Amino acid sequence: MQDASQSTRPLRAARPQQGLTGDITVPGDKSISHRALMFGALAVGETRIEGLLEGEDVLRTAAAMRALGAEVERLGPGRWRVAGRGVGGLIEPADVLDMGNSGTAARLICGLLAGHPIFAVLTGDASLRKRPMRRVTDPLAASGARFSSREGGRLPLAVEGAKNPLPLDYRLPVASAQVKSAVLLAGLCARGTTRVEEPEATRDHTENMLRHFGATVRVTVQGSGRVIELDGQPELTAAPITVPGDPSSAAFPLVAALLVPGSRLTVRGVGLNPLRTGLFTTLREMGADLAVTNERTEGGEPVGDITATHSALHAVEVPPERAPSMIDEYPILAVAAACATGTSRFRGLAELRVKESDRLAATIALLAANGVAARAEGDDLVMERNGAPPAGGGTVVTHMDHRIAMSALVMGLASEQPVAVDDSAFIDTSFPDFATLLDRAAGGGAITPA
Ligand code: S3P
Repeated sequence: MQDASQSTRPLRAARPQQGLTGDITVPGDKSISHRALMFGALAVGETRIEGLLEGEDVLRTAAAMRALGAEVERLGPGRWRVAGRGVGGLIEPADVLDMGNSGTAARLICGLLAGHPIFAVLTGDASLRKRPMRRVTDPLAASGARFSSREGGRLPLAVEGAKNPLPLDYRLPVASAQVKSAVLLAGLCARGTTRVEEPEATRDHTENMLRHFGATVRVTVQGSGRVIELDGQPELTAAPITVPGDPSSAAFPLVAALLVPGSRLTVRGVGLNPLRTGLFTTLREMGADLAVTNERTEGGEPVGDITATHSALHAVEVPPERAPSMIDEYPILAVAAACATGTSRFRGLAELRVKESDRLAATIALLAANGVAARAEGDDLVMERNGAPPAGGGTVVTHMDHRIAMSALVMGLASEQPVAVDDSAFIDTSFPDFATLLDRAAGGGAITPA
């Protein structure tokens, strides 16, 4: 498998001759793609997947499921077949599982391994090896699984799964769908009911897919949070999955269209799960012309087509409770706010510090390199702007972070001077054709090697 860290690909984006136009689709949802492969591996029978994201993060999960004994086969573009082993049926991998850049793969697989009486070692690239894993290993250890890791709970990490895992009852200290999902995955192998309480609702793709495969899941709304209960040791039955376009990927071309004069761009088949659409709500509050048409349900998830038309944006204050529904979208929202009029404040961004990079610092540096002064005040991001295009002209250090790279390139399309990124290779983790797709929508010649 190609490793994004092995080749550096600097790119530059400049203001295009014309607006972004046309009809495009974006790759499949990353969160749903990981889960489709994992639940397929745990189900009895053959799961057919359409629209799987074939980015590096998801290919790591595919390789890991193969190493754990599932049959995982690519039938064609986005079309995959998984023959599962049943809950509790995974086998010991013969080698270290390398999760590359993917926090979702590493954390969810910890949950999956915790309930199987096998030994496994997980590692990842330099970015993933810096990220905190105790947020999953601490709760999972209470099931009887044993973990040992580097200082600070970092990868590489060894797991000895529990023979008779105990069901967990856990209240999440941070709003994290990855931690919730790890606990629920461990709960599949436990006898009895696993209970997770989340103070703020986070993406519910795990709960939806568990039900889709036949598990019993009860969800109770509690204020802005939820309590999720899963009955252990269900028989999961293979079921077809259609993966919607990733709203977190659609965010980049849509914001580009809002910012570049003369644009009118449609992204078709975007997932519209309400626990993922905080960015679209926020952009509308800023005055964005975003129209959703053709709303439908595909594979149990709401989907629609979104058309963005160039708009004059004004500043916004984003409340902290909205963060879980747009946690991956703050870098691109910051680029939009850099082109808006007024003082923007995004509240409660502590979690951004432990993403693929320290995204709070990387976003401020991205803006600073291009003439936009933004600052962190505690866990808030603040900037004052007058609606003029950013100066641009900078080179952005991407820190192995796909979303910092894509945000910087969108900024280049909207700035006075071109914006360069030191390395675009990590974009392949979630959106392999990003540069080609955006450049084509902009009429060509806007995104070029730096
Ligand atoms: C994800 C959850 C989020 C998000 C990540 C994908 C998931 O992470 O940032 O890109 O698929 O569950 P956290 O759980 O750390 O918030």
